[in-house]
Formats: sequence, C-alpha cells, structure tokens
Amino acid sequence: MFLRNCWYVAEWSHALKPGEVIARTMLNEPLALYRGNDGTVVAFEDRCCHRLAPLSLGRVEGDNLRCMYHGLKFAPSGKCIEIPGQEKISDKAKVRSYPVAERDGWIWIWMGDPARADEDEISRVIGPDRPEWRLDCGELEYAANYQLIHDNLLDLSHLSYVHAATFGHDTPQWAELRPKITPIERGVHVARWIADKPASPYLRLPEGTRMDLWSEYTFVVPGIFMLVTEFCPAGTAERLEFAKPGPEEAVFVSPTGQAVTPITGDTTIYRFTGGGRRADVDDQMIEAIMSYFMKAFYEDRAMIEAQQKVIARSPNSEMVSTSFDGGVTVFRKLLGDLIAEEANPTRLAG
Ligand code: FES
Repeated sequence: MFLRNCWYVAEWSHALKPGEVIARTMLNEPLALYRGNDGTVVAFEDRCCHRLAPLSLGRVEGDNLRCMYHGLKFAPSGKCIEIPGQEKISDKAKVRSYPVAERDGWIWIWMGDPARADEDEISRVIGPDRPEWRLDCGELEYAANYQLIHDNLLDLSHLSYVHAATFGHDTPQWAELRPKITPIERGVHVARWIADKPASPYLRLPEGTRMDLWSEYTFVVPGIFMLVTEFCPAGTAERLEFAKPGPEEAVFVSPTGQAVTPITGDTTIYRFTGGGRRADVDDQMIEAIMSYFMKAFYEDRAMIEAQQKVIARSPNSEMVSTSFDGGVTVFRKLLGDLIAEEANPTRLAG
C-alpha cells in the first residue's frame, strides 16, 4: 500500500542531463524520465500507447520524446504530436504524464491525482544546491519495504547497537535516553541532546576528545528526513540545562537530507546527503564524512533486509512496542490514515 497523492523524490537533479532519458520505478509504476533541451524534466509512464514499447528507450527531440520503436512523438503533456506517415492523430494517442518539480537538488514526482498536485506541499530540505553548505550525495537500494526504513529513521535508539562501530560508538545514551517527540503537520519532530560522546572521527580532533551533540530532525510524509546535528564542546548541554543550543555553540554543524522512495512493495531507494558548513569542510573531510555515512548505512541495510526476511516468513507475527517507539507509532498511524482516506475519501471526512 502506498500513499499516492504526494510528492516523492525520483532522482537527484544532477543525475539527469538535458537530452537524457532514464527509467525509474516508483510505487510499482515504471516511469520514463527525460530532461528536454530547455532543461525541463518530464515524467511519462514507461509505456508507449502504440505497441507498448518502453519510452525510456526513446529519444529526446527538443522538449519532446520520440518512441524509438515506430517513431510516435509525444509532447511533455503526454499527447502524441506526430505519427510518421500518418496525418490524423487520434485523441486516444497519449501517455500519462506525471506532475514534476525540481527543488533542493531533487526531482520530485506527484504520483497521484494530477489535479491535486501543489508544489507548496513539497517538503523542504537543505539540499546540495545551497551555497552556504558543502554537501555530497549518496544512495542505497534496499530489498525491504519502505516502512521498515521509516521505522529505522524514526527511532534512533538503534544507533547504540546497529551502529556500535560508527554513529553509536561508545554511546549507549542513544538507547537509554528518550528524545522529545512532537507531532507536526504530516510528520514528527524529534530532538535531543547526547552528552559526553566520543567525537566523530571525520572531525579530525585529538584522540579521546568528547563532545555534546544536539540532534534535531523532522520526518514527514512520504518519507523525507531532515536532520541537523550540532557538535558542541563537552559540557555545553549541562551549561544550557539541556535547552536547544544557539548557532554559536556548535564547533561543527552537519545537516543531512534523506528521502525514502518505494520502488515496489519490497524494494526501496534511499537517498541522502552529508557534509557541513562550506567554511568547515574541505575535500578530505567530505570524503571522510560520506565514507563514514556509507559504512553506517550498510549497517542499517544489513539489519533491515534481514528483518524483512523474518517478516516475510512470519507476516502475522505481532510486534511489541517499547517506549522508544513513539515516533514510529505516530508516523505509522498518520501514514495509515492518509492511505485509508485516499482509498475511501468519505471514510474519515464523514
Ligand atoms: Fe511506440 Fe510503436 S511502440 S511507436
């Protein structure tokens, strides 16, 4: 089950050059994405209306796409505008064209009713196109349902265990101290201090340096995670009586925007950025940050794919919640309600 009336991240903007066509599957729907020569991105269903050949094997001509089987040409609206050797074109000669937007370094596609697409509903993140930040990009495919990745991002207590060798090294506090979780419109806000932890290795601080870390994120429909971590000198949290720090407190600030997009019911693509303030990050550091992130995200993937296999062989097993599942529970209910409302619009309204 997927929520359709929302914007999903389909690709990095930089990954699609003018004149290129790529195939992507989202929510079980094969798509052909192309960037016209004017720079505009178009998303079609990946199926020509003539003999059903994939349009992702097509050719960009100006702002249009030509199917390379028998040559039908389609305008960005999806309407067929040319059939070689034939003058009259039936109104039925068209393909589905999805609403597309580009924002914060990502290509977003509206997968539901086009009449409801509103670009103001796109979740804002700190993307790789922001001049004040230096961010690099990564991605990972999962053989797992997208909601298991949501759960992972909504409950960071796993950092002490899954990431005992990376993010959670010598930091049991992730699993011992509950964050403050606040429901927000279409998601949750999660914030906390993790005091007195080892400094992350990519910060290149002297061996044994301890830090206090302020971690604050939002996670919103359909799976957009925006986390900012502020690394402060040890003792900052106590001095501030565990209130949110001002920007002057942090010696290093690390934002990461992440997007979870279902490919099918049991495969998902996870895209993420990593980095810091442009003035703080050099080539060597950005490489170290991304390699650290990748190592940690492989740790997540190994656990989640193994979890998916257990769920597949015992689909009716009950899950017993703990007090750390607050964000997971709130978000699963929110998403479930939105999906149910979409399936039966009068159910919740009435
Ligand atoms: Fe596309 Fe024939 S299948 S033109």
